[in-house]
Amino acid sequence: MHQKIAKLRTEALEKIGSAPDAGALSAAKNHFLGRKGLLAALLKDLPGLKPEEKKEAGAALNKLKKELEEAVEKKTSALGKGTSGPGSILDHTLPGKRIPKGRQNILTTTMEEVIAIFKGLGYSVAEGPEIETEYYNFEALNIPAGHPSRDMWSTLYIKDDLLLRTHTSPVQIRYMEKSKPPFAAIFPGKVFRRDAADLTHLPVFHQVEGLTAGRDITFSDLKGTLAAFCRELFGKNRKVRLRPSYFPFTEPSAEVDVECFVCEGSGCRICKNTGWIEILGSGMVDPNVFLAVKYDPEQISGFAFGVGIERIAMLKYGIDDIRVFFENDLRVMRQF
Ligand code: DAH
Repeated sequence: MHQKIAKLRTEALEKIGSAPDAGALSAAKNHFLGRKGLLAALLKDLPGLKPEEKKEAGAALNKLKKELEEAVEKKTSALGKGTSGPGSILDHTLPGKRIPKGRQNILTTTMEEVIAIFKGLGYSVAEGPEIETEYYNFEALNIPAGHPSRDMWSTLYIKDDLLLRTHTSPVQIRYMEKSKPPFAAIFPGKVFRRDAADLTHLPVFHQVEGLTAGRDITFSDLKGTLAAFCRELFGKNRKVRLRPSYFPFTEPSAEVDVECFVCEGSGCRICKNTGWIEILGSGMVDPNVFLAVKYDPEQISGFAFGVGIERIAMLKYGIDDIRVFFENDLRVMRQF
């Protein structure tokens, strides 16, 4: 009897424990604990035993019954309180739990869009380091030490000759050092300035630099390319203008402005009452820049530009505070 009980216990615990679903568990329960189950069968043998044995076996069977019932109960909750079938606790008609979905920051989306437009115009894509030397960030770009135009970029220095690049223009130099014209390439990336954050400034932001070099590249090519870019990005109806400007690495230079998205041209604090928002700087590559990379400016001409990605995202999405891009406020991010 002793052995029979022990065998039943092992078998039953194994079956209950390994039941894959509620159906199997219910079958196992019936098989061992049911009215005509194995435990009941053993109970039926009790009367034929000697009194001492009977007492002992009766107690053992009672104990086993409890143990098996507990095992069934435990397994039931482990299986998620029963699954399918009649009497199941799981209601298949209940609405599911919504799984929260992340999304891309709109700056990344804008960056990808700008890159895609230039790729469509035949530009290739390259990158350069965020930590630069004075040579690449300034000197090779025709901005010698002590030149007043260095004030255009409030620079974060790491040490004497190392700085966080203030623009993506140094990648122009690195690219030309390794390439032969003709080519058209863009250089996307982060840039850094010693600026306090306000509505329109951040100490870290993104630019896409562009450079085309070859024979007979003219200002018309610059204008046509940048106009095509703006039309693609903002649609044909948004007003765009080219305004004469100054950059040490281009001559002549021009800035591209887009009609202010907040006031639509009438003037507000975002556009500083001009009705226009500057989105990029551009110009014909200065001969001194070509000389720095050992190109012959008599043979080679080109144009360059630097696009501010945050500015463009603000225009596209109607955002009037540049800081929201980096705050990751879900109430803002969920709108896009
Ligand atoms: N590097 C300039 C800046 O950060 C933007 C720029 C202007 C880039 C004119 C150019 C350019 O390539 O031709 O303000």
